[in-house]
Amino acid sequence: MEKILVLDFGGQYNQLIARRVREQHVYAEIRPYDRITISDIKKENYKGIILTGGPNSVYDPASPHYDPKLLDLSIPILGICYGAQLLAYLAGGEIAAAENGSEYGKTLLKVKDHMLFRDIPAESICWMSHTDFIKALPQGFRVIAKTEKCPCAAFCSDAKRLYGIQFHPEVTHTAFGRQIFHQFLFSVCGCSGDWDARDYAGRIIEEYRKKYAGKKVLLALSGGVDSSVAAILLHKAIGKDLVCVFVDHGLLRKGEGDFVEDTFRRTFGVNLIRVNAGERFLKRLAGIREPEQKRRIIGEEFIRVFEEEAKKIGHVHALAQGTIYPDVIESGKGASAVIKSHHNVGGLPGVISFDELVEPLRDFFKDEVRSIGTMLGLPNELVWRQPFPGPGLAVRILGEITEEKIRLLQDADAVFREEIAGAQMEHGPDQYFAVLTDARTVGVMGDARTYGYVAALRAVSTDDFMTAEWTRLPFDVLERASSRITNEVSGVSRVVYDISSKPPATVEWE
Ligand code: XMP
Repeated sequence: MEKILVLDFGGQYNQLIARRVREQHVYAEIRPYDRITISDIKKENYKGIILTGGPNSVYDPASPHYDPKLLDLSIPILGICYGAQLLAYLAGGEIAAAENGSEYGKTLLKVKDHMLFRDIPAESICWMSHTDFIKALPQGFRVIAKTEKCPCAAFCSDAKRLYGIQFHPEVTHTAFGRQIFHQFLFSVCGCSGDWDARDYAGRIIEEYRKKYAGKKVLLALSGGVDSSVAAILLHKAIGKDLVCVFVDHGLLRKGEGDFVEDTFRRTFGVNLIRVNAGERFLKRLAGIREPEQKRRIIGEEFIRVFEEEAKKIGHVHALAQGTIYPDVIESGKGASAVIKSHHNVGGLPGVISFDELVEPLRDFFKDEVRSIGTMLGLPNELVWRQPFPGPGLAVRILGEITEEKIRLLQDADAVFREEIAGAQMEHGPDQYFAVLTDARTVGVMGDARTYGYVAALRAVSTDDFMTAEWTRLPFDVLERASSRITNEVSGVSRVVYDISSKPPATVEWE
């Protein structure tokens, strides 16, 4: 399989670089600069290497560097931002703090006639974010693009197949970024572009069949896209030897528990154990108002219920998890690098003993997991499910959690979801839900006074959920949702719409 190495120097867009490469059907893997040596690189047979951006200055001795022998491997290299400066520096060039200040944001880029910029107009917009600049190029290199402030916005040595670009082609603000990756991958590295995440499904099913048939594999199914796709892959490989435990903590959206059970047990014939543990969770949450404490309790109880079920099953050979690539990538930010574990099921159970951990999706991004899910026949509702916190509606009920409040929120949320779905907006929100506040206000219904809860509606538009804009929903959608909720959900007497963006607010209300 042809592969591109994304050598990570700690930049904020590194995952985006790997995604841009994979979008062109070439597999890319991210490795922190300090966890892969020259001899590792030689063994892997990479078709090309991309050096990422990073927050440092190459002339700072503490900044991340790399063995200059990298440039002698005869593997094409594309350096981006810090990666471009490092490439120039390692080849003998000079980097300095920009004399006329740093350059940030959308900038007019002027390119020369060069293979890397084929089909790109002589002038276009790129995204810049740098303080240092390349003051002098190494011998044998030449400038192929500039901006008003940056005399060397791109450079190359065609003979050595080394390229550097100061701007960020991976972000969508760079108008022709995709074409630049395309040129690097196909014209420079000679890739053929025959990789597809979906091909993987067939291969992994075969591999898992040989490896695990006749052995018990246990998976905690949440109904989210990651654990669902992992479950179907394993089910297709080993059938009933996969046991899925679905802990219904009673804090799911209206009808969701039954939908998950229906899909997996009846449609796919998965060996599924559904544990209706709502009462247990409610008991433990009684009187608890503090959000972090709610989360802790739910996480602990989840593991406990899961372990109890697992014990009944007896010895399991492997535990399967729906961990995906962004959960496992280590960042090249140096000593502070951490590996994030998959938090939705509350971490690994401690009591269950198993010989192996199986993570079928650990090489894939979310959009790739979705396309695998669709290919396996999972319903759109599941594949395109919006993010849903592991602790469920507990994070959307402010104050104490009671059975009544769960029901009110489930009903209000179902109405809101129906109204959004019915409106068939072209650019609908990326996430939307109802929140039950802990405030109660006076209302009037017919001739009678009511005293019910205030429900809040939240809808956000976002690419990555790190930042988000509140969605400008049409007033008639809001009006219908509000009127239906106050009429149909007895106990809610007022509806408000949240117009806070993130930051400074967060998406969830906790
Ligand atoms: P915040 O509230 O931090 O949420 O702006 C950002 C995104 O993360 C989702 N979220 C979670 N997702 N497990 C998850 O898988 C969780 O515990 C969790 N908490 C928040 C939230 O819905 C939003 O999409």
